[in-house]
Amino acid sequence: MHVGILGGTGPAGLGLGVRLAHAGMRVTIGSRDPLRAEEVVAELLAARPEHQLAIEGADNAGAAKADMVVVATPWESAQSTVRGVAESLRDTVVISMANALVREGKEMLALIPPRGSVAAGIQYALPQSQVVAAFHHLPAAQMFDLASGLTADVLICSDWPEATAATSALIERIEGLRPLDAGSLNQAAAIEAFTAVCITLNIHYRAHSTLRLAGI
Ligand SMILES: NC(=O)c1ccc[n+]([C@@H]2O[C@H](COP(=O)([O-])OP(=O)(O)OC[C@H]3O[C@@H](n4cnc5c(N)ncnc54)[C@H](OP(=O)(O)O)[C@@H]3O)[C@@H](O)[C@H]2O)c1
Repeated sequence: MHVGILGGTGPAGLGLGVRLAHAGMRVTIGSRDPLRAEEVVAELLAARPEHQLAIEGADNAGAAKADMVVVATPWESAQSTVRGVAESLRDTVVISMANALVREGKEMLALIPPRGSVAAGIQYALPQSQVVAAFHHLPAAQMFDLASGLTADVLICSDWPEATAATSALIERIEGLRPLDAGSLNQAAAIEAFTAVCITLNIHYRAHSTLRLAGI
């Protein structure tokens, strides 16, 4: 499995990329600037000589050629980024991990993007792709540190059952993560907005909490 990450040079994309590569997948970290992606990946690999991670850097167009593609840009640039590579994303599972948030003092607040969620906006921009929302609540630093003991539930939603199943299978391969099917893409609004609550809790309690649902 080859996974591409658009905007993968940020903490979220890099953290997820490390976890995916550690789980045995080939990962392409995408960027607007391929040289930046190559530099970031070289630094990452140099810091982990003990691991054989199949990660490479490329421009976003290169990352969009993968079997599955993750959108890890800031939410405002998610639609324009996927539009720029829409042809490569045709008939592809595209996973949005972007959250529309703003910080006000000690609180993180959720914004309401056009169409209700970032993921719904991406699905609108990519009518020929199977858009999934996932990975919103995973803290980047804990993903990046393979020794952090990361354990978390990952809420997934999509209007495409096969895409939900493919994303669940991807998540199951990552040690410590449990995929949970949260329903249609309509749920992305609540899932994305809940990230504001998770981060506010972390600010209040000076914690690095992850989401775990009891009873399932
Ligand atoms: N940080 C977390 O813990 C976390 C966890 C879960 C989900 N998320 C979500 O994941 C997304 C990425 O988070 P992050 O903290 O990694 O963000 P970030 O560092 O601000 O941005 C990620 C990458 O997006 C690219 N980018 C920035 N501005 C852009 C623009 N105008 N157009 C196109 N690309 C642009 C940049 O890559 P290049 O300059 O190399 O192109 C940047 O390295 C966010 O939507 C966030 O809500 C974050």
